[in-house]
Amino acid sequence: MTTISKKNTINNNEHVVLICDNNLNLNDSGLTKSEIDFVKKQIKEQNKKSVSINQLNRWVFIQVIDEKKEKHLTLESLRKSASTIHSLIVENKLESISIIDSKNNSSEVLAFAEGLALSNYQFLKYKKDRKKETYSLKNIAIVSVNCTKEQINELNILVEATAITRTLVNEPVNFLTATQLSKEFQKLGKEAGFNVEVFNKAKIKALKMGGLLSVNLGSVEPPTFTIMEYKPKNAKNKQPVILVGKGVVYDTGGLSLKPTPNSMDMMKCDMAGGAAVGGALYAIAKAELPVYVIGIVPATDNRPGGNAYVPGDVITMYNNLTVEMLNADAEGRMILADALAYAQKYKPQLVIDLATLTGAAVAAIGTSGIVSMGTADEKIKNKLSESGNNVYERLAEMPLWDDYDELIKSDIADMKNLGGPYAGAITAGKFLQRYIDYPWMHFDIAGPAFLTAKDGYRPKGATGVGVRLLFDFFKNNF
Ligand code: BES
Ligand code: ZN
Ligand code: ZN
Repeated sequence: MTTISKKNTINNNEHVVLICDNNLNLNDSGLTKSEIDFVKKQIKEQNKKSVSINQLNRWVFIQVIDEKKEKHLTLESLRKSASTIHSLIVENKLESISIIDSKNNSSEVLAFAEGLALSNYQFLKYKKDRKKETYSLKNIAIVSVNCTKEQINELNILVEATAITRTLVNEPVNFLTATQLSKEFQKLGKEAGFNVEVFNKAKIKALKMGGLLSVNLGSVEPPTFTIMEYKPKNAKNKQPVILVGKGVVYDTGGLSLKPTPNSMDMMKCDMAGGAAVGGALYAIAKAELPVYVIGIVPATDNRPGGNAYVPGDVITMYNNLTVEMLNADAEGRMILADALAYAQKYKPQLVIDLATLTGAAVAAIGTSGIVSMGTADEKIKNKLSESGNNVYERLAEMPLWDDYDELIKSDIADMKNLGGPYAGAITAGKFLQRYIDYPWMHFDIAGPAFLTAKDGYRPKGATGVGVRLLFDFFKNNF
């Protein structure tokens, strides 16, 4: 883990990153005249934005801010540049680095530090040689008059919450069962200061959560239903905002078995929505944001074991609607429907669900963003999109037109869990819409939750998508 701290001065033997603009005022940089000339040449003539100088006793990285049309694009380019410089830092086994704000623009330096810290994440729990493989970078210092201690504290919290979320998603199901996931949430609650209640199988049965129970039928592991509550005395909202996360700890497809290797290999990531909800609550509570938030995570694995639900089964859900189950691989909507219906009892002002719900969402926009849809008003939608841009977890909205209702009609039940050949992300959303009676947004994170290759500061494997987005939304709108 890296820690980010604030520092007022630096010595001239420390490794540094100078964040500057095109004016390249490098006189106080500790670089020699010929080094400065070299840097200027690289930037002005070769059109480079990053230049690195090895002064033998220290490295100096010069990062020119690449001004884009919009502020959030400039910030993202700095996070990305930070990930490139991160590779050089670990290649050269540097342990500490100071980022110097020569332009007095705190948001840009913070974005660079964020990119560096997010790039430093590793999941080495199962490696024998993890000491040898651990990245060298331990300390990031920010030297900037305009950066406050609070901003840096918040950044540390967000980086940590993202790392926690990534680790939960990277954990395989032979460790992270539904029961273990709920235990991890309890640990997070203790550490950050929010309340956690876990319903066991008997309680879930007593509540008649038919969706969650039927997905669990093929499994030897019991399901869990976790409720996390953060309600500070100074909360700005009376009615809670509820975050619901899909907690399928492994998705084999059930009896509608997924083919291996390509489609099942990464299905330990099918609880990424649930992990993001836990991570978001962790960050919100640690930063003591004045918001009343509840997180709900229904969890189970989806397997084709002994008593597994079969296509054709009719299931009575928690809210008494019936579902003709026609594809055991459309399990996410089954467990989320129960959780969304359960959320009604809190009379929430807004509910946001996060789920690795459909391959169709990946087909539509790939790994670059989140497919979103919902019934919340335009003001909320705009605020969420703004947060999506700020943290570069962008939202692409899809319609919830009535036409799509036709596609989930069943001959014998209130609906079926399968749509037609097209608009799969939307029909999944239309299914969920039957279970809400409050303003609601659905984020399908199937694309960005888990990557098959590193992409800048997003590592290969789990990305922790959703945590920074939700935090930004709560921070800026309450
Ligand atoms: N967990 C999958 C969706 C998924 C796909 C997540 C790719 C991450 C990456 C989900 O449960 C699923 O299998 N959805 C089916 C639904 C279909 C059977 C209606 C799908 O998208 O194929
Ligand atoms: Zn599935
Ligand atoms: Zn799934």
